[in-house]
Amino acid sequence: MTFQLNQFSLEGKVAIVTGAGGRGNSIGRAYALGLSNAGAKVVVADLNAEGAQAVSGEIVQAGGEAIAVQVDVANESSTKAMAESAIETFGGIDILINNAALMVDISYDNFETVSMDAWHKAFAVNLEGALLCSRAVIPSMRERGGGRIINQTSGGAFPASGLYGITKLALVGLTTSLAKQFGKDNITCNAIAPGNVKSDAGKLLVPDDSPFIQFLEASCATRARGEPEELVGAAILLCSDAGGWITGQTIHIDGGWVMRP
Ligand SMILES: NC(=O)c1ccc[n+]([C@@H]2O[C@H](COP(=O)([O-])OP(=O)(O)OC[C@H]3O[C@@H](n4cnc5c(N)ncnc54)[C@H](O)[C@@H]3O)[C@@H](O)[C@H]2O)c1
Repeated sequence: MTFQLNQFSLEGKVAIVTGAGGRGNSIGRAYALGLSNAGAKVVVADLNAEGAQAVSGEIVQAGGEAIAVQVDVANESSTKAMAESAIETFGGIDILINNAALMVDISYDNFETVSMDAWHKAFAVNLEGALLCSRAVIPSMRERGGGRIINQTSGGAFPASGLYGITKLALVGLTTSLAKQFGKDNITCNAIAPGNVKSDAGKLLVPDDSPFIQFLEASCATRARGEPEELVGAAILLCSDAGGWITGQTIHIDGGWVMRP
């Protein structure tokens, strides 16, 4: 079959993007708007109901279809309710982007002092949240003949050097495990590992004058920092028919910071 550009189209697909309604210029917002521009109907899901409503409103204003859903990804009944809302409104689910995470509000205490409450909370949101959302949507994906799951990991997991990085490295393990278990259902699961992104949260955590930026400038093959929109093309590839044979992979989008053979 000759390749056609419309294999990248998400026309007729229903996508849930978690963590899409948070701090102003966020990566989840960029995914939600980008998937809508590629043709998908989008469920903008976040703990922050007001933020989710704002992003969903932006999509509708631009002529797309979207709803906002408040979800706590760490709560199983909340993730089931999110999936039910998507099915009730749009008839089913084809795509899930597990983007919600604690990043700014995670403990950066060292391992001698970090509280176990903070440790468990980090894993509950960043790892178990992706598991709960995935299993809330998999029955609908299976019913529709397949689906796509993307887990948002981080360059900070390669190598992991703190609680945040450890949760994101564990998410890579969940990615390969889901890919193996659900491949025969035509459900793919991949991860995106961004480098330092200039989302509002990213800038809060790593300000422009941070010495970490100088370190990154020296380490990256191209640029140290990217915009949220620079992650969207890879997400669309992984969600589309064009990416149907890709599964269990982690795609690094970071200007050549983390290079793995
Ligand atoms: N910004 C970066 O430099 C960078 C780099 C690598 C990876 N990432 C990852 O990209 C994703 C988005 O990052 P961002 O920079 O847009 O940050 P962000 O803080 O704006 O986005 C995280 C979102 O998750 C939501 N959230 C938190 N807990 C939740 C819960 N229990 N249930 C539902 N939603 C919840 C927040 O409300 C927020 O909207 C995160 O997974 C982050 O770890 C970011």
